[in-house]
Amino acid sequence: MLESILPAPRDFFSLSGMFRTLAPIIIYIIWNRYFRDARFNVPKLVTKTQAALGDSKFDSLDDIMKECYQKDKNRIYKVEHPHKDVVIIPAKYVDELKNLPDEQVNFLEDINERFLGDYTKMIAPGGIHDETLTHTIKNSLNSNLGNIMGEIQEEISYAFSQEIGECKDWTPSYPMTALMRIIALVSGRIFAGPELNRNEEYINCCLNFGVEAYNVIPAMRKYPIFLRPLAQYWVKECQKPLQAIETMKRLVAPVIAARTTEKGPKPHDMMTWIMENSPPGKATDLEWQAKYQLQIATAAMHTTSNTMTHIFFDLAAHPEYLSILREEILAVTAAEPLGVLSKTSLPLLKKMDSFIKESQRMNPFSSTGFSRKILKPTRLSDGLLLPPGITVTTPVSQISMDPDIYSNPEVFDGLRFFKMRKKRGEENKWQYVTTSTESLNWGSGVHACPGRFFAANEIKCIVMYLIMNYDVKLEEGKGRPKNIWTEGGMIPDITGKVLLKKR
Ligand code: HEM
Repeated sequence: MLESILPAPRDFFSLSGMFRTLAPIIIYIIWNRYFRDARFNVPKLVTKTQAALGDSKFDSLDDIMKECYQKDKNRIYKVEHPHKDVVIIPAKYVDELKNLPDEQVNFLEDINERFLGDYTKMIAPGGIHDETLTHTIKNSLNSNLGNIMGEIQEEISYAFSQEIGECKDWTPSYPMTALMRIIALVSGRIFAGPELNRNEEYINCCLNFGVEAYNVIPAMRKYPIFLRPLAQYWVKECQKPLQAIETMKRLVAPVIAARTTEKGPKPHDMMTWIMENSPPGKATDLEWQAKYQLQIATAAMHTTSNTMTHIFFDLAAHPEYLSILREEILAVTAAEPLGVLSKTSLPLLKKMDSFIKESQRMNPFSSTGFSRKILKPTRLSDGLLLPPGITVTTPVSQISMDPDIYSNPEVFDGLRFFKMRKKRGEENKWQYVTTSTESLNWGSGVHACPGRFFAANEIKCIVMYLIMNYDVKLEEGKGRPKNIWTEGGMIPDITGKVLLKKR
């Protein structure tokens, strides 16, 4: 087939040979640029995203979405994304789309396409169909949450001693910097195990991998799609994720060797469970195991430390909640014989659950969420046909601010969800980890964040440690540090400061 299209080698440098070679490429580029999504004829609101402006005015995307949502929350429109346009659809379609098979509506195809997984190496070692990690989180981590509560709390105490310290008097602290390392230590204890989690090289490798992988995206986007398989060899940003994989291979090697030879019960951690769940022959394959460790660190660490930083800022901005939350903690821990929170007592912390969900509502991870690539024509119940090739997503940040769902949405109310859960039949609907069309911060359906139960427990244990051991406030005369919009979403201010004092 190819032989009939491509010219024989000797004809290549003739004018007609060059034309026959280049024509299909040029047609593809023009089709890809101008016509690929044209079949899906909805208005395109060209936003001031990076693609249009070349700078960092990402908050304008959120502004445009706000305007659209306030005029008509059911409006369907496209917004420009640096890699490809995405179609904003109303949340009412989520329930129809969320459980459709991956061959039709796909989560990872979208991430891989828009965030260049082939070059960032942020995908599973077995490619986008390798579900070892998600399967292990759902089946092993989630069913062992009760067994790891002691380790989590022990590590939090160590991490605070290292990263926050005594704070005998009011002491300035930069929560984002401290929490990145606290989360790396605590999560690392459960991901890689006690042999590695306090190792500086492991911590840096986990924290830097996500950042370095993200740097690959703009560097590779400068090249047309067909040149990228070649460009990866000279684009220097592409080398960093590869070096991280080599570092992680070296770090996990002795742990894997020990775990395979040592007799007796294995530690309760992801290293053990991923090895058990790996495809045949891959349990001791260093490359595979290193990539799984980096994959889980990428999914878990920055997401949790950003979320935790927002909570820190919200506690400092609303110190009136400190005594309310302490009172609840004291009541719940009084019933715990060892004074260590158990998995069963965590759901009793309903005011804390409400506070952290309110913090997430007001500080969403991104303006969009529940993003899916349509692979097969998909007709929705009202007749709307989604053609293959497009990416759909929902306006998560606007849903969180919808006055029809949340009264006085602009006001931070730490007990909002505590009160909403009191309504008959809605006890579970407004829990931190519950997903619904009104609350899409964890996504929805089969691909909703499988790590949210672990994240929620870890966050609650950290909040408990923080407020039982420290008082928190903002600097005199300063407001809550402002959030920053980036291409990847919204992040807390890394330079934001709070004051801490040991109780
Ligand atoms: C507060 C912290 C976190 C936030 C805000 C968060 C958010 C999300 C979101 C929005 C998704 C996409 C869901 C969808 O589109 O339906 C997701 C997927 C995922 N998350 Fe999380 N996440 C967090 C923590 C974690 C942790 C701690 C882990 C691991 C223990 C984890 C592992 C994953 C994985 C593996 C996926 C992909 C699921 C799949 O492919 O089906 N996340 N997360």
